Amino acid sequence: MSNAKVVLITGASSGIGQATAQTLMEKGYKVYGTSRKVKTEDTIKANSGIGFIKMIQLDVCSEESVKNAVDYVLKNEPSIDILINNAGNGIAGSVEDTSPEEALMQFEPNFFGVLRMCRAVLPKMREQKQGLIINISSVAGLISVPYQSMYSASKYALEAMTETLRLEVKNFGIKVSMVEPGDTKTGFTGQRQYVKQASDSVYHDTFMKSIKTMEKDEQNGPPPTLVVNAIMKIINSKNPPVRIIAGFSYKALVFLKRILPARFVQFVVGKIYT
Ligand SMILES: NC(=O)c1ccc[n+]([C@@H]2O[C@H](COP(=O)([O-])OP(=O)(O)OC[C@H]3O[C@@H](n4cnc5c(N)ncnc54)[C@H](OP(=O)(O)O)[C@@H]3O)[C@@H](O)[C@H]2O)c1
Repeated sequence: MSNAKVVLITGASSGIGQATAQTLMEKGYKVYGTSRKVKTEDTIKANSGIGFIKMIQLDVCSEESVKNAVDYVLKNEPSIDILINNAGNGIAGSVEDTSPEEALMQFEPNFFGVLRMCRAVLPKMREQKQGLIINISSVAGLISVPYQSMYSASKYALEAMTETLRLEVKNFGIKVSMVEPGDTKTGFTGQRQYVKQASDSVYHDTFMKSIKTMEKDEQNGPPPTLVVNAIMKIINSKNPPVRIIAGFSYKALVFLKRILPARFVQFVVGKIYT
């Protein structure tokens, strides 16, 4: 029996998740990737070695779906060594135009989805006395972006939960880290939803200008390689850091946010996006 590590990665049908799954498979990991759109056991992609990607059905917004997916992996494998919470999406709109229901829709995959996955996998990781959880946050979880308030808020909340979780599970031998990608060319841009009120809004013109800048930056951004490298660095580290911000310019930006007055940071972000 091989002792290749077992990885469960949410949102592996596209972008960062797909690229990470591919790299892990090539490195010999047994990868269970998830998507809402596949039927479990539809596909198995294998390299010439022991690594494989098996796609399984999962909607992180459904407690039942999360349970089924985790049960499926544990029926086939003795452990889940690594959980990568990557699934997520973006909902854009001004704060005033966003209903509480739409805010909740944003928190569902990006925050509650991660909570569901952690709660489903942690009992097994505690039993194993080892495990690694990597949460994919965003630079927008450290710097708030206009017209992306609920996206930023969901990622700020994820940052808080991840920092806490890391402290709570340390004594069970479980490590927790996160990666903050900046603009990355993936399917994320095409999947972004706008709040209902956005088309008939006093914010319409600045909202559209801001969104266009964002979408251009994402589509002109690098492929997911930078983020995959950060994930691999965490996996290969004996003592993973709390976070890795993917990309030098974003690292510099977050550093400047920490040392510069908030008013100045707001001025710069406002200049870019409004
Ligand atoms: N791209 C960027 O510029 C950027 C920047 C910072 C952070 N991020 C973060 O990176 C992560 C990955 O995004 P990406 O850029 O790779 O986007 P993507 O190409 O759109 O991929 C998103 C993945 O999440 C899955 N997903 C979405 N909602 C889901 C749900 N409710 N349940 C299960 N799976 C769901 C999708 O799978 P199905 O649709 O097949 O179910 C897809 O595989 C996200 O957490 C995002 O916030 C992205």
